[in-house]
Amino acid sequence: MAQRVQFPADFLWGAATSAYQIEGSPLADGAGPSIWQRFAHTPGMMHNDDHGDVACDHYRLWKSDVALMKQLGLKAYRFSISWSRVLPEGKGRINAAGLGFYDRLVDALLENGIEPLVTLFHWDLPAALDDRGGWLNPDIASWFADYAQVMYKALDGRVKKWATLNEPWVVTDGGYLHGALAPGHRSRFEAPIVSHQLLRAHGTAVQAYRATGKHQIGIVVNLEPKYPASQSQEDAAAVKRADAYMNRQYLDPVYFGSYPEELREIFAEAWPEWPAADLELIKQPIDYLGVNYYTRNVTKHHAHNYPLKAASVKQHATYSETGWEVFPQGLTDILLWVKQRYGNPPVYITENGAAFYDPPVAEGGVLDDPLRVIYQKKHLVAVANAIAQGCDVRGYMAWSLLDNLEWSHGFSKRFGIVHVDFATQQRTIKASGKHYAKVIATNGAILNERAG
Ligand code: BGC
Repeated sequence: MAQRVQFPADFLWGAATSAYQIEGSPLADGAGPSIWQRFAHTPGMMHNDDHGDVACDHYRLWKSDVALMKQLGLKAYRFSISWSRVLPEGKGRINAAGLGFYDRLVDALLENGIEPLVTLFHWDLPAALDDRGGWLNPDIASWFADYAQVMYKALDGRVKKWATLNEPWVVTDGGYLHGALAPGHRSRFEAPIVSHQLLRAHGTAVQAYRATGKHQIGIVVNLEPKYPASQSQEDAAAVKRADAYMNRQYLDPVYFGSYPEELREIFAEAWPEWPAADLELIKQPIDYLGVNYYTRNVTKHHAHNYPLKAASVKQHATYSETGWEVFPQGLTDILLWVKQRYGNPPVYITENGAAFYDPPVAEGGVLDDPLRVIYQKKHLVAVANAIAQGCDVRGYMAWSLLDNLEWSHGFSKRFGIVHVDFATQQRTIKASGKHYAKVIATNGAILNERAG
């Protein structure tokens, strides 16, 4: 008989979003532009020329969105701060109106019994800092720490769980190596520099938190287990490279103060050697690890694929609209890997979810999304399995609360457990949202019902 699915009594059930993907009003009330504002308004960069000028209009609809969270029974809400709303030039002058938005949001969440989890950087770098080199400029570590301090001063205490960065790998790989995301660079030489400066920024922000903050701070990474396509030595080596690049590139420096060896091979002459003092800075103790999980990768050697000399092998399986294999076991596997490799740190699943096709309008106020319901159930069972095997997983944030701007895919990929009609801003709780509400209300016990 299958094991009973069980979650710890104080398990933190929530949902996640990010600023540029939902807020809209990117330049309202004195906010400065971000690199995503610029990128989205550059012809050819976005699917359907979509942009975040309105998105889910959350900047104006935040009160009713908090009511929606309450209706779902969320115990936590993970969101990110738009750096350039608070500091229009990225540093220096504080925009009180921008800060006020987050201040009011946090109060409203607390009044409704919802714990805010705040991410300081979810990709929307202030454009003014990009003009100074952005993540390529080593000064960014202190710019980031100064910004972080502004936020700690304003919200720490009311906010008890902070994250420095969301998915540094995506910033580097998408923003600076392959160019599909802002700021759209394509440079093998920039990529390792950007990763390193992201990590230094993380380190300085954690250090700054220790000076004044009283609660918890961590980092959010996207992890994707890599499995070999065959038993060959070549494929085994390809798996090691892919794993080092995506999974260990950030966590090894944070936990061990060293980069994986494979990065030297991957970046070759583009790999700089970094001062030991930088690695000491990066290796600040953190209070928890945020894990975003979407899919796995079955990896094979491929001599011509840049930069990993690896390719992924399609499986006979369900794939989501973003072309990602649905593979719940990978979530259990990666959590066990984190436990074993990094000493069983407290973990929050900070994102998990899937894009499946939903119609643009929820006819009759109903939206059935059976594939997303199945995805959700299976991944929650995968989390419970990891907990049963000793992983210290303390919470789960569904990605995403709302259908939103899926970066350069624009509005074409819907990840929400709540449907958004982008023509009217009407919100409709999808079947997956209703199911999630039951999961929360029963602390996961509903997952034991066969037809639940
Ligand atoms: C990001 C989200 C994104 C999601 C789905 C993660 O990479 O943190 O912003 O929407 O995955 O692609």
